Amino acid sequence: MAKVTQEQVMSALSHVIEPELHKDLVTLDMVKNLQIDGGQVSFTIMLTTPACPLKNEMEAGASAAVMEVPGVEKVTVNFDSNVPRDARLMGKLNIGVRNAIAVASGKGGVGKSTIAANLALSLAKDGARVGLLDADIYGPNIPMMMGTTERPKGKNDRVIPPESYGVKLMSMGFLVDPNQAVIWRGPMIHNALRQFIEDVEWGELDYLVVDLPPGTGDASLSLAQSLSLTGVVIVTTPQQVALSDVVRGVKMFEQLNVPIMGVIENMSYFIAPDTGKRYDIFGHGGGEDMAKQVGVDFLGEVPLEPKIRLGGDEGKPIVIRDPESAAAQAIRELAQKVAAAISLHNLVNAPKEFEADPTLTILN
Ligand SMILES: Nc1ncnc2c1ncn2[C@@H]1O[C@H](COP(=O)(O)OP(=O)(O)OP(=O)(O)O)[C@@H](O)[C@H]1O
Ligand SMILES: [Mg+2]
Repeated sequence: MAKVTQEQVMSALSHVIEPELHKDLVTLDMVKNLQIDGGQVSFTIMLTTPACPLKNEMEAGASAAVMEVPGVEKVTVNFDSNVPRDARLMGKLNIGVRNAIAVASGKGGVGKSTIAANLALSLAKDGARVGLLDADIYGPNIPMMMGTTERPKGKNDRVIPPESYGVKLMSMGFLVDPNQAVIWRGPMIHNALRQFIEDVEWGELDYLVVDLPPGTGDASLSLAQSLSLTGVVIVTTPQQVALSDVVRGVKMFEQLNVPIMGVIENMSYFIAPDTGKRYDIFGHGGGEDMAKQVGVDFLGEVPLEPKIRLGGDEGKPIVIRDPESAAAQAIRELAQKVAAAISLHNLVNAPKEFEADPTLTILN
């Protein structure tokens, strides 16, 4: 029988396209640990995110391609992941945050904090290392939504962030009395946020999700400058008055050079639990039309769901409280789309490989 070679297997895999990144597995350098034992072939596909929605599709494609190689009897595909680092972040900060993704909106009360908390938890559930930074200095809601008021501990001048459901958290809500009105001026906000990023022991994180305050204010500016966000997702509700604010938000982030990963429409529709009938309370299709109009991706819809509100009030977000619900599933899918958008962004913006490092001196 023909002896199966490494070249044959790699050549077969060079025809398998990564469905999200649109390049083949070999070009993307995703095939690792290839082992051939007679007719038995096994390898690991190194994903760019553990939150990958198309694993099954990739496994089937890779397996079928390798089975075509003469002499192959059995193919075992394993998966692992290594989330690439946003090259721009690395230059700005000497911290282990690989990607920072902000959740913003033009208008208040559309569900940013709810989406941010559930996105962070979804990515963590898929196996990513995740932090959640509450950048709403005036109205910090993340401690309540994530169900913890634990004060951050200090250690050698560093702040250890509390954790909830496996996600590291930082919020002004941990530091000031929630019933006290604190007056913050622009530079103070800037400093507070910088400390939240630089002085907090985030450790190695694949994703830092940032919950922004409503509108286009100081916090967004500060973060874009001091952290250099990998991208932003914009949350809206379907009605026209919310949508026109989105256009302003998109323009602002474009001016700040922050890539827009897409628009999420929250409170899109309501399914009556007794009849199963769908009600488009705030209208329908507005978010998608608007995204098209301003030339950004539409990531999907999250229904209006009383359990989402309850989850926020009880400190147990819906992806934890009720993971099987349609609303939780919708958010899990959105999180995977966001992760894919980040992977794609990092691939396109990756620093050229094998480029000579001008700081290196060759000794001989
Ligand atoms: N899809 C949904 N279904 C039901 N309730 C929701 C949904 N999304 C958000 N809510 C609820 O709406 C309220 C506002 O949500 P949230 O605080 O997340 O909005 P926000 O945009 O962060 O507000 P702010 O602009 O004040 O920061 C909360 O009580 C939340 O539980
Ligand atoms: Mg909020």
